[in-house]
Amino acid sequence: MNEPDAPAPSSPAGFTGLLHAQRVWENELPSFDPAAAPDAPLPLFHTWFAEAVAAGQVEPHAMALATADADGLPDVRTLLLHGADGRGFHFASHATSAKGHQLAARPSAALGFY
Ligand SMILES: Cc1cc2nc3c(=O)[nH]c(=O)nc-3n(C[C@H](O)[C@H](O)[C@H](O)COP(=O)(O)O)c2cc1C
Repeated sequence: MNEPDAPAPSSPAGFTGLLHAQRVWENELPSFDPAAAPDAPLPLFHTWFAEAVAAGQVEPHAMALATADADGLPDVRTLLLHGADGRGFHFASHATSAKGHQLAARPSAALGFY
């Protein structure tokens, strides 16, 4: 329930108030020593994924996939990871989607996991 005089959550002031009320760094992040990291990134990703699962992270296999279109304009969306192995990071989607067209034009992408 909102306070009677509180701005509506859909208003700019309501949004800003809600945004600033959110807690940050509530969970202590694990430390990371780059010098102790394995030479290849995949085992490190597998380890981090297991730690995210163990920590109770909601949908740890959800990831942001960033691509760029033929003009270089960026795009990003959420996908589910289907696998991560020596061939790369796997996801399922449609070749006719925006991301499908973008990857056909520019076969490079970035992934982000929380
Ligand atoms: C939690 C979550 C998981 C998703 N997983 C997939 C997925 O695995 N594959 C997919 O094509 N779209 C998935 N989507 C939908 C995409 O975010 C996106 O809306 C859709 O693929 C169209 O993207 P595009 O128009 O940029 O190509 C997911 C959305 C959410 C919220």
